[in-house]
Amino acid sequence: MKILNFGSINIDNFFSVDHIVRDGETIDSKFYEEKLGGKGLNQSIALAKVSKDVYHAGKLNIKDDFILEYLKENKVDTRYIKKTQALTGSAFIQVDKNGENSIVLDHGANYQMDYQFIDEVLNNFERGDILLIQNEINNLAYLIDKAFDKGMFIVLNPSPINEALLNLDLNKLNMLIMNEGEAKDICKLNLEEEIIEKLKTYYKNLKVVITYGKSGSIYFDSAITLRQKAYKVDVVDTTGAGDTFTGFLVGLMANDYPIKAALNYAALAASLAVKVKGASNSIPNFDKVEEFLKESI
Ligand code: RIB
Repeated sequence: MKILNFGSINIDNFFSVDHIVRDGETIDSKFYEEKLGGKGLNQSIALAKVSKDVYHAGKLNIKDDFILEYLKENKVDTRYIKKTQALTGSAFIQVDKNGENSIVLDHGANYQMDYQFIDEVLNNFERGDILLIQNEINNLAYLIDKAFDKGMFIVLNPSPINEALLNLDLNKLNMLIMNEGEAKDICKLNLEEEIIEKLKTYYKNLKVVITYGKSGSIYFDSAITLRQKAYKVDVVDTTGAGDTFTGFLVGLMANDYPIKAALNYAALAASLAVKVKGASNSIPNFDKVEEFLKESI
């Protein structure tokens, strides 16, 4: 079974600030650095920490070969990444003194996923292969339709939320991994019990994970409900923690880990990620996660 992550690639511009800039305010950045990210790229790297056969599909600027090298060094197969004239996507990320962030995205090449490219990539995958997607590329509805027709196992991390995302047909998905805010927006409900009830009632075949940051996460499907704690660490930068969680969870499930163990490893990996500045570079190797597990018992 192969894992295809069809997603964004961004150059992340990090600004370390005292607080997230307010309306009309100009503030100094204490530190600036450029790193590689994008929810797509981050999740591919997290997947490849725990699984073989991880393929990233997406687009970047013709001059940005260094990003392909970076993905290859991280054991991600790049054969389905196409070069274009458009600039590689970029993100402007403020990280405040508590490690919380605020992000502005410029889509660039991430919004050049035309039908032909999607068809060409999907031709290489078959029934039972996993498709992981986030919401930082265009034509997601088409991609889901085509992958559904092929019988792929479709996992959506609905981040960030926008109008197009809210119009997607959730019936075609096998799994949703989202944070609390995204769950509220998708279900148009506020209370956890109501959200769970709605998803279980209307989407009987869907596996769902909702993350609550420091308060852990919940997994449910039609048969079981599990709660997972978050591990306490000193927070330096939360950017990419959700991507680390998603990549570890999907990668471990693909390798037949029981959901309870996969959730626990995903939580441990996300906690380690917030201890380090940056996104893709903060994703821990699996041996570090196993060490952390032993220390935490
Ligand atoms: O989830 C973190 C990512 O969101 C960053 O790497 C940034 O590129 C934005 O897409």
